[in-house]
Amino acid sequence: MKKSSFFHRLKNIPVHVVLIGMCIIWMVPTIGLLVTSFRPVQDINTSGWWTIFAKPQGYDEYQTYCASCHGDDGTALPEADLSNPDLVQEYRRSITLTPLLEQEINGQPHLGDISLPDEDQTAAIATYMRRISGIDTNAKFTLDNYIDAFTGYRGNKTYRADCASGTQSLDLYCDIRDLANPRGMGRAFLNSLLVAVPSTIFPILIASFAAYAFSWMDFKGRQWMFALLVGLQVVPLQMTLIPISRLYASLGLNGTFQGIWMFHTGFGLPYAIYLMRNFLGSLPKEVFESAYIDGASHWTAFTKLAMPLSVPALASLAIFQFLWIWNDLLVALVFLGGQHPVLTYQIGNMVTSLGAGWHLLTAASFISMILPMIIFFALQKYFVRGLLAGSVKG
Ligand code: HEC
Repeated sequence: MKKSSFFHRLKNIPVHVVLIGMCIIWMVPTIGLLVTSFRPVQDINTSGWWTIFAKPQGYDEYQTYCASCHGDDGTALPEADLSNPDLVQEYRRSITLTPLLEQEINGQPHLGDISLPDEDQTAAIATYMRRISGIDTNAKFTLDNYIDAFTGYRGNKTYRADCASGTQSLDLYCDIRDLANPRGMGRAFLNSLLVAVPSTIFPILIASFAAYAFSWMDFKGRQWMFALLVGLQVVPLQMTLIPISRLYASLGLNGTFQGIWMFHTGFGLPYAIYLMRNFLGSLPKEVFESAYIDGASHWTAFTKLAMPLSVPALASLAIFQFLWIWNDLLVALVFLGGQHPVLTYQIGNMVTSLGAGWHLLTAASFISMILPMIIFFALQKYFVRGLLAGSVKG
């Protein structure tokens, strides 16, 4: 008994190794992106995110040349406290630091019997001194990328620095109103919600009505209509962009939320109906028949029986529809464009053609990831069920 379970475990090792490997392949870039999104721009531009685990620049040189007298944190000599910003201010560059090190103190060489550091090493030590004394903004992490992304700040400082200096260029208010800046991710987040929520509810609602009719109501041509609907799923979305945008243009619907709601509803319907019909059709016939015999109308059977029983199907359908619309760029670009920019559109706008601004992109992508991640973790159960929908019954 014991032996077989041991071998059983042994057999699973390759599977586990592969799974862990896959997790790492997926997780490492994501973690890197998350870490980067919290780093200051200068750091992002000069070093990789993994350097947050490394010792600060100049640490080794400082240890070799200075730590023996000044101590690990620079505070060992009270008269020459290297964590004091006022003192370090004088020796912040290697040009001023080198003469000091060459000078004698009390008739002795400053460094005692240690040989003098070369130019690069002195520069590194100066950097390190600036860091421990706090002259350099030595915050390793900052929220600036998120603030700048949310407010749509496009200057060459940061939103906070620009507003604090009072010389704000651009059209900033420097208060809560900036969250509604049409160029910002805050506004785009709201727009994405305004697109995705109705575009999820409408098709699922209509599809539930249709699926109920297809499964439990008798009417002529039922099979044919259903077959047609299933067939409609093969129509590629791209094919309809031009005719629909011309139609919308004549109706004045281009660039409106109503237009994109209708588009997503139309394209969500065939699959939603198909899935809901399969689900409703597989519910036990007797339940519905006895309800009808008891005098229940179709409406009662729909609201009191069909809907409560199909919560799992509705949930997984809603998740998939919502995620697909949340991540959609094509439809939003064609039918909303810059009039009501959504997240995907705004992210695309964030980087200039010269590649500047990609530090904002890290924060922006996390802002757009956050809702799908919450949905995924909260409704994982339905997510898996949705993936299996159609492959297994029940
Ligand atoms: C052998 C011991 C020793 C070593 C090694 C040493 N120092 Fe000093 N340092 C001193 C002493 C002693 C003073 C003077 C303290 C006083 O003013 O009484 C001093 C003073 C200073 C001062 C203040 C000068 C001022 O204007 O008051 C600075 C800055 C400084 N050291 C930087 C460094 C740096 C950087 C290194 C490493 C490259 C270093 N020291 C290595 C002993 C040392």
